[in-house]
Amino acid sequence: MQMEEVLTKVLQEVAFSPEHEPVMVREILEAFWPLMDRPSVRLFDGTFGRGGHFRALSTMFGNKLQSVVMDQDAEAIRHAEESFRPLVEDKRLRVVKGNFSEFSEHDLGLFDIMMLDLGVSSPQLDTADRGFSFYHDGPLDMRMNQDGGVTAETILNTATEDELNRLFQDLGEIRRPYRVVRAVVHDRKTKAFQSTKELAGLIERVDGWRVKGQHPATQYFMALRLAVNNELGVVETALPDLMKALKPGGRLAVLTFHSLEDRIVKNIFRNSPNEGKPVNKKVIVPTQEECKRNSRARSAKLRIFERGVQDEQDRPAAF
Ligand SMILES: C[S@@+](CC[C@H](N)C(=O)[O-])C[C@H]1O[C@@H](n2cnc3c(N)ncnc32)[C@H](O)[C@@H]1O
Repeated sequence: MQMEEVLTKVLQEVAFSPEHEPVMVREILEAFWPLMDRPSVRLFDGTFGRGGHFRALSTMFGNKLQSVVMDQDAEAIRHAEESFRPLVEDKRLRVVKGNFSEFSEHDLGLFDIMMLDLGVSSPQLDTADRGFSFYHDGPLDMRMNQDGGVTAETILNTATEDELNRLFQDLGEIRRPYRVVRAVVHDRKTKAFQSTKELAGLIERVDGWRVKGQHPATQYFMALRLAVNNELGVVETALPDLMKALKPGGRLAVLTFHSLEDRIVKNIFRNSPNEGKPVNKKVIVPTQEECKRNSRARSAKLRIFERGVQDEQDRPAAF
């Protein structure tokens, strides 16, 4: 069967979790299509979430797929173990709780296909207790891995005025965060910030609604989330390790939702000629139809890297 025909059938058959609509699924399947003729295919999905992409890839590759999936969020791991129990019991799926930046510590071997779908999942955003959203009142947490690390509350209440200004400028790409930051530093002297609504309320009061349809706290919350989870740092650390773990001709697909993150991926892919090369000259973006249907897709960018077929000495054996 031709690619178009198979992909259409896969997309009709696959039942995604109602909690999270995966982004650019067709484009990800297309990216991995050239590996379809391999007799067996090893997949690494470093951002399992609710397993939407994993489900589609399992449907496309069928029984020849052997997978390792990872997430740093305990809920995502629980979901993976429960929803895919038969695959786990069959030893066709290994579920690992952890940060994909620690990939090489797990000794997972080499892979034909690898993917990262960066950022947060809809269930993380929609659960008030996780503190990611200005629409729900919850603690200012924002940690994807709740087993440790600093929370947004700690950063907001302890960083200096300069540090906060820099954080919102660098990670939130907010040109003039000064008035909001000054108000935060002023208000926290009386009472430390504890909840998402307290912070969102302050931003609304100070900045007001400037962009139609976009809550004024959007960029501030994104910057805090990126800082809490060191999201740019982990991509920078992880990508070279992931690229080295590709089998010859293997492919790594990375979906980003932030321009700085995309820049990091673009540069690492372009500047790794010893490992392989980017598959497409231009970044791949979602269709207009997908953006209309799923607002999360609007900022999505997909880049694909292909491992070269030579330079096999120096590499660990596949298992
Ligand atoms: C956008 S969601 C992935 C959704 C998934 N592709 C799906 O279709 O359901 C991102 C997931 O990656 C996880 N995540 C983000 N950064 C991570 C990291 N550095 N290490 C491990 N998991 C990470 C988050 O906890 C979240 O569950």
